[in-house]
Amino acid sequence: MNLESKLELLKGVYIFSEVSEQYLEEILSHCKEKTVEKGKVIVNENELGDSMFLILEGEVKVSLMSEEGKEIILSTLRKGDFFGEMSLLDGEPRSANVIALTETDLLELSRRDFLTEIISNRHIASAILKVLSKRLREANDRILGLMSKDVFDRLAEYFQKEAKVKGRELIDGSIVFERLPQSEIASIVGSSRETVTRAIKEMVDRGMVITSGKQVILKKNFQTLLIIRHKERYG
Ligand code: CMP
Repeated sequence: MNLESKLELLKGVYIFSEVSEQYLEEILSHCKEKTVEKGKVIVNENELGDSMFLILEGEVKVSLMSEEGKEIILSTLRKGDFFGEMSLLDGEPRSANVIALTETDLLELSRRDFLTEIISNRHIASAILKVLSKRLREANDRILGLMSKDVFDRLAEYFQKEAKVKGRELIDGSIVFERLPQSEIASIVGSSRETVTRAIKEMVDRGMVITSGKQVILKKNFQTLLIIRHKERYG
C-alpha cells in the first residue's frame, strides 16, 4: 500500500480524526506494515508486549481460554480499530489473545513511538480514552447479558450488532451480513455450537432471519418478533 492510500485510511480512523495530515505522516513514518494470514495469533495472552497495532483491513478476535480449554471471545475488532495498547499503558503482560479471523493488514507501532507520538498528543489520547470507555461499557453489557439473558436473546443482540457494523441494507429494509462460523459465534455469546445452531433454527422458523450459507438476512421486523418471543416466554 502506498503512502497516499495509508494516509487516506488513517484519516478515516476515529482516534486520528482531530490530527493534522502532517502529524499523521510523522506517525506513519514510525509504523511497520504487516499482513497476517487468517488464523494467525498476533498477540499472545501473558506474553510481554512492546508494540500496538492498528487494523487497516480485515477482522480479528480478542479471546481468552477458560481453564477447561474453552475459548471465550471478548470482542471482534475490524478496520480502524486498534489493539495491544493495554500492555503499553500499564506495563503488564498481554491481557488476551488477538487472532486474525481473516487475512489482516496491520500497522505496528513500537512502545516508544506509542508513548511519544500517540499518547503525548492530547487529541489522540482523549480519543483513545473514549474508545477504552466504550470497551468497558460493552464488557459491562456483556456481563449483564450473560447473567440475565438466555442464549437466544444474546444471539439476537449479537446479530443486531453485526448487522449494524458490517451489514448492507436490502430494498425491503432487511439487512444482510456474513456471519462467522457457528463455533466462533458460540464463543462470543457464551454458549455451545449446538445451542447456537438451535437458536438460529428457531430464528429461521419464526421468520426473524433467512440464512443461506454464511449469509444471514435480518428481517425488517426482527426486533418486533424478538419482543413477541420474549412476551411468550417471560410474560
Ligand atoms: P493488550 O493487553 O496489550 O493485548 C491484548 C489486547 O486485546 C489488549 O491490549 C486490548 O487491545 C485488547 N482487548 C483486551 N480486552 C478487550 C476487550 N474486552 N474488548 C476489546 N479489546 C480488548
